[in-house]
Amino acid sequence: MEIGSGTGLNFPFYEHANKVTAIEPEPRMRELSLPRAQSAQVPIDVILAEAEKLPFPDDFFDTVVCTLVFCTIPNPTKALEEIRRVCKPEGHILLIEHVKIEHRFLGQLQEWLTPFWKRLCDGCHLNRNTLHLVKLAGFKVTSVNRYYKDIFLVVEAINKKQSFF
Ligand SMILES: C[S@@+](CC[C@H](N)C(=O)[O-])C[C@H]1O[C@@H](n2cnc3c(N)ncnc32)[C@H](O)[C@@H]1O
Repeated sequence: MEIGSGTGLNFPFYEHANKVTAIEPEPRMRELSLPRAQSAQVPIDVILAEAEKLPFPDDFFDTVVCTLVFCTIPNPTKALEEIRRVCKPEGHILLIEHVKIEHRFLGQLQEWLTPFWKRLCDGCHLNRNTLHLVKLAGFKVTSVNRYYKDIFLVVEAINKKQSFF
């Protein structure tokens, strides 16, 4: 599953999946993504839905992909809870996200800019600590690569679900 697939820029890169289900809440974005879904190498369905309320049963998807989306999702904690629910135990979550950086001055600058930035850029927050939220949600982070002064993170994590047995 891909979360917040926008105009479908990731669609040409899916090769080793039987099927991809993408969710996107903006009808116009979904519409723009359809030609890319149709010309993709694997079958892709694009469903109008929000990450905070995923219309899928528990333990349904093998892998969940999110690129540049956790900056915009209004309730990222709820979205991660939902992703954990619909992703199979030991399933994978793959993220490319921009985040708040630890540098004192630049991090503070991101805080100051966010109220203006999110109005200009369709709800995008510069100050999200997405890696922390992913860990808090209960995913086991297996790899983190940092780019461009640590603003961009490429994260791989595994969905660890509690077992009582
Ligand atoms: C910056 S765009 C990134 C699009 C795409 N992931 C990409 O990498 O090109 C952010 C996307 O998140 C979507 N979005 C916003 N709120 C969302 C939500 N609650 N659940 C899922 N997607 C959401 C937006 O509609 C938009 O398509």
